[in-house]
Amino acid sequence: MPEQHTAPVRAQERAGAARAGAVAHPNIALIKYWGKSDERLVLPRTDSLSMTLDIFPTTTHVRLDAEAGHDTVTLNGAPATGEARRRIVAFLDLVRDMAKRPQRAVVDTENTVPTGAGLASSASGFAALAVAAAAAYGLDPDATALSRLARRGSGSASRSIFGGFALWHAGRHTGTAADADLSSYAEPVPTAELDPALVIAVLNAGPKAVSSRTAMRRTVDTSPLYESWAASSRDDLAGMRVALAHGDLEAVGEIAERNALGMHATMLAARPAVRYMSPATLTVLDSVLQLRRDGIPAYATMDAGPNVKVLCRRADADRVAGVVRGAAPGGSVHIAGPGRGARLLPGGGR
Ligand code: PMV
Repeated sequence: MPEQHTAPVRAQERAGAARAGAVAHPNIALIKYWGKSDERLVLPRTDSLSMTLDIFPTTTHVRLDAEAGHDTVTLNGAPATGEARRRIVAFLDLVRDMAKRPQRAVVDTENTVPTGAGLASSASGFAALAVAAAAAYGLDPDATALSRLARRGSGSASRSIFGGFALWHAGRHTGTAADADLSSYAEPVPTAELDPALVIAVLNAGPKAVSSRTAMRRTVDTSPLYESWAASSRDDLAGMRVALAHGDLEAVGEIAERNALGMHATMLAARPAVRYMSPATLTVLDSVLQLRRDGIPAYATMDAGPNVKVLCRRADADRVAGVVRGAAPGGSVHIAGPGRGARLLPGGGR
């Protein structure tokens, strides 16, 4: 079983150490988050559930600089610009506010997952940043508070705080904003013996044309299918919890696949339509159907991009990867298992 909680923050790394490093992994949702009820607080319309991966880590270092008048943000060795920089600085402002410390920071992030390609780079990115920035600014959040904090950077990051399977609660949407904020966080989901793998077909590693933020907003505002998907997603979650508790991989896969296809249907019906699937996506989906006809339990899920993730048994992963590779000769195929939650690097990360 992978470690499910963040490593405790060591006292010397906490009390104003002013420097910390953290590592986090992406997660892939089996029950999707699609649609917000509050954009500023990043509160979702529905609960979601994911598996944290053991590949594609993000490593982030944060160091406070008392002399600096602005934050310095480096992404994969280059200065961050535009929207990426704006989101990171806004997140640091939130942490500064919580810590009541005004110092600017030097942030250095290495992402091993292709950025912005619907492969959850924002999940590992903001989970690592939440853990490193909270420690560098001398905060001492527990895993639930870290999950809430990571959520403010990117909704799906709330789930990457935890290893294995994690459920992100949409929270209470009546009452005050503070109530809603406090009640929306992820937590680990207990599972029976399940030896899953996700075979990831990267069909196009370039950044996507429409951000998930924009696409979600448009879907909620204009898609006539949105409310019915949200209602069926609540049923899917209930079924998913039972399937995980029973270690029933086939039921887990069936529910995950229909939930993802339903999410894409809501976007196709948005005005104007958002379509992330490409011809290569459909070719891989056909190969997954063929695997099932051949008796291999394999089920597809897709996010805000053309890439396909195929859930299967670990024992079948090489065979599934071979079939998927044959269906998508131009792409790259990776095998992931369940990974660990976000954690601090020892000794401030350097
Ligand atoms: O966290 P965001 O804003 O990148 O949204 C991610 C949404 C999906 O990946 C499409 C689904 C999910 O639950 O991760």
